[in-house]
Amino acid sequence: MRFHSVLVIVLLPILIAACGRTPVSSPPPTATVITYRDPSAPIAERVNDLLQRMTLAEKIGQMTLIEKNSLTPDLVRDLAIGGVLSGGGGYPQAENSPAAWAAMVNEFQQAALSTRLGIPLIYGADGVHGHNNLYGAVIFPHNIGLGAANNPQLMEQIGRATALEMAATGVFWNYAPAVMVPLDVRWGRTYEGYAERPDHVAALASAFLRGLQAPDIAAPNRVIGTPKHFLGDGGTAWGSSTTENYKLDQGETFGDEAFLRAVHLPPYQALIAEGAQTIMASYSSWNGQKMHASSYWLTDVLKRELGFAGFVVSDWAAIDQISPDYDQAVITAINAGIDMNMVPYDAQRFIDSLTRAVERGAVSEERIDDAVRRILTVKFAMGLFEQPFAHTALSDQIGSAQHRQLARTAVAQSLVLLKNDANLLPLPKDIGHLYIGGQAAHDLGIQAGGWTIEWQGRTGPIIPGTTILEGIQAAVSPQTVVEYNQHGRFTGDPGAADAVCIAVVGELPYAEGRGDSASLSLPPAENRVLRRMEEACVRLVVVLVAGRPLLVTDDLPKWDALVMAWLPGSEGAGVADVLFGDQPFRGRLPVTWPRSLDQLPVGSGDGQPLFPYGFGLTP
Ligand code: GLC
Repeated sequence: MRFHSVLVIVLLPILIAACGRTPVSSPPPTATVITYRDPSAPIAERVNDLLQRMTLAEKIGQMTLIEKNSLTPDLVRDLAIGGVLSGGGGYPQAENSPAAWAAMVNEFQQAALSTRLGIPLIYGADGVHGHNNLYGAVIFPHNIGLGAANNPQLMEQIGRATALEMAATGVFWNYAPAVMVPLDVRWGRTYEGYAERPDHVAALASAFLRGLQAPDIAAPNRVIGTPKHFLGDGGTAWGSSTTENYKLDQGETFGDEAFLRAVHLPPYQALIAEGAQTIMASYSSWNGQKMHASSYWLTDVLKRELGFAGFVVSDWAAIDQISPDYDQAVITAINAGIDMNMVPYDAQRFIDSLTRAVERGAVSEERIDDAVRRILTVKFAMGLFEQPFAHTALSDQIGSAQHRQLARTAVAQSLVLLKNDANLLPLPKDIGHLYIGGQAAHDLGIQAGGWTIEWQGRTGPIIPGTTILEGIQAAVSPQTVVEYNQHGRFTGDPGAADAVCIAVVGELPYAEGRGDSASLSLPPAENRVLRRMEEACVRLVVVLVAGRPLLVTDDLPKWDALVMAWLPGSEGAGVADVLFGDQPFRGRLPVTWPRSLDQLPVGSGDGQPLFPYGFGLTP
């Protein structure tokens, strides 16, 4: 259903009633266009017109963002909910397909449009490396690999492709790009970051946002982005987290205000200039105060000093961390500058709490109006009132060959060559024997990493795609004998003169604080593969599949070549493209590679890192 200019014929019924019959020569019906429904009206007028029609309950409903498993369409209607999200792994329970996604989103949207004022909801999800909760979507390399590729044009293309696949399912709000500046690679979210330098982050994140939001933010194939997590999420101190058994994630950001402004703020300045419509607050704290509770950073700096005119969304139940007294937590967060609360479970509890706060004057009507004005402005600017439903005409974009080729190119450009004794790489395609070991060589779940179908990701064939092994098998000549054994136990002779070994080893998938690592080591099984192949092979290439640098200092001398493949996603063939010379090695380290743990956070400790920021060999 498309709203053109909805004209409400107001006078005609009155005339009919007055004359008791249809007037013969009645004047042409005059129509009163309701301003907020008039797409030709200036957005500010539409917002003002709608705002003054809204009840407090309808306003607070707009500030409420609920996870789809905690909602029914009826509840969306009854509570006038303004936003619904799919959290990590939030695919339709019945079937994870584009059609099921579109049907799910459209059903919630239909309910929102059936409310008294018919305000469309905005549906969000984390499309952090493609539409990654959707089975069949192209899964791009995670950001750290794209940081190594450091190609803004490629980033913009990836943003555009991601938007097309998300818009096809009605998910017009992407909780990306993450613009953290990771300073300690032990952090489980390191791979969601582009680089340890703010200018590097800003350049790539801006390009991604450009691609995501398209030239016309009201176009049917656009998706609005969400720079996150404001502020200082990537600069926390080891051991400072109070969440679960996390060590870094959601911890206390170190550094004084000048440091935060120099290191963590620039990406937000860049993305506001790029047209960011929403920004997500950070779970982390600074100087003992939760960022979600900081009116200084959320309002004085972000909204006033930087002039951010969009809306600030909380992180998942992050408001609850402010105080054990939920009412107090809500009051503090909304007064600090949170405009929409990712509740995400109990809508009624949040709505009741905020209603009580307004009624007792703890949160002013002006603050509520400011938040709702921001939210409505974004919804009008992105054309949501005119085009609220999934653009299923774009469904053929999902998993398209073109997007897969784009992802494969991104994989190739992300690889970093860290060691290459005797110029072993690139390998000839007609090599006699290849011996390949490691679980990561043939596991799409490992090469995709976290935030893939499930929040934490999962090993195994969880997505369609090409494994690194399959890419290698397709690249070499028919005469080449390829033996693969996950455990590095071979029947042939990996030490033969015409043989080369490739150990493709990696981290098991993780997301957020569950990936915080005290050791930066590979899983024991993958280390055992390395030991076996170090013994059996004469020429050994190691390909690491991980979301961050790992401690390899002591083992590096035993390897002839080392390639960092990061988390390449669904198109593993991009790795073979470079290993066998179809594409050049061009990646450069976006983060410093530590020699030892005492060199973390970056800049700590003595001596040189194992590999510095910007390092990468070109054979
Ligand atoms: C998570 C993450 C955030 C994500 C949100 C919704 O906890 O911190 O990056 O966008 O919840 O999935």
